[in-house]
Amino acid sequence: MTALRNLLPTGGATVGIDIGTRAIKVAQIRRTGKGPELQRFGIASTPRGSVEGGLVLDPQAVAQVLRGLLRTARIGARRAIIAVTGQNVLARVLRFPPIPEDEVKRAIRWEAERHLPFPVDEAVIDVQTVRQVNRDDQQQLEVLLAAAPEALVLTYIQTLENARLMVDAIEVAALAMARGLAQTPVSGTHVLVNLGASMTDVAVVHDGVPQFTRTILVGSDAVTQAISKLLKVDEAAAEEIKLRYGLGWEEWPPERAEGAYAAEMAEALSEIVTQVRRSLDFFRAQFSGVTINDMILCGGGALLRHLDRHLTGELDLPVTIGNPLDGMQPGEQLLAAQALAPQLAVATGLALRTIE
Ligand SMILES: Nc1ncnc2c1ncn2[C@@H]1O[C@H](COP(=O)(O)OP(=O)(O)OP(=O)(O)O)[C@@H](O)[C@H]1O
Ligand SMILES: [Mg+2]
Repeated sequence: MTALRNLLPTGGATVGIDIGTRAIKVAQIRRTGKGPELQRFGIASTPRGSVEGGLVLDPQAVAQVLRGLLRTARIGARRAIIAVTGQNVLARVLRFPPIPEDEVKRAIRWEAERHLPFPVDEAVIDVQTVRQVNRDDQQQLEVLLAAAPEALVLTYIQTLENARLMVDAIEVAALAMARGLAQTPVSGTHVLVNLGASMTDVAVVHDGVPQFTRTILVGSDAVTQAISKLLKVDEAAAEEIKLRYGLGWEEWPPERAEGAYAAEMAEALSEIVTQVRRSLDFFRAQFSGVTINDMILCGGGALLRHLDRHLTGELDLPVTIGNPLDGMQPGEQLLAAQALAPQLAVATGLALRTIE
């Protein structure tokens, strides 16, 4: 993705755009002497069927909604940073003995071939040096490899071009989420989860560095579908019920809930729980002896009532809802954005990015 990088946008404000299956989120952040300030934000519904599996299938339709959204949000910038996600989009820290920079590049390509679930020739790759560390008396160089299929990336560039916007940078959504949520303490080990409509991004962050990311191909729409099936209502009605009651009627915890609702909701989330557990196991296998402190949720799906409690029980970890606006300067938009804050984690994380 290095090749896609451009100059820092002028004017001191940066715009992040997070195009999801269900919603397009935009955030404009201004850096002030006292810290970042959310200057503008907006959310609009993604046109049905125009984004799937992380691919923009209909750039024209998405661009049209995006332009309207930017207008409504009074964002006049002509450049933006965008997120990509999907099954084949990932980031991972690689460790090398200290070797010259050009050799690192070669080694990374070789490593990328091992780690990518698709041919490296079809990937857009970005590499950032994280730090030099001393491990077991050995100097090690840590680099963060980020990769996405070029064909997928191009659909976003096309979309922004259609919306007459320049792409300043493209970032893996899970990394943007990690930055968005990093306003909260960075030491320790945290599992960050961006629960979208059809996908769930996971990042394990250890001492402030995202160690790896992965995307699970299930999201909060699984709950809507379960409600629709259980209560025999259409999707719109099911969505309404979901927003109102979340994982259980008023009588939480589920043991006390009458009928099958709470149990069915838990079942709908079971695939996400299983896959998140797998990510935790993967991390623990690599970092034996490191304790995972907690899990922080974001994305629209994090707004689901009782989800944090449910996951705390399932994963045996403290689970909280992350707020990417914590620590931001109180601009005029901050209050209005609070109710939807978790859904803005990726967009704000993008806008907080400094382009090297
Ligand atoms: N208040 C709420 N309570 C429960 N769920 C909510 C709430 N608001 C939004 N959601 C759910 O959040 C999801 C949308 O979140 P988000 O915008 O993060 O998804 P997306 O980015 O469009 O999807 P994806 O990342 O999978 O492409 C939908 O499934 C929606 O039902
Ligand atoms: Mg999303």
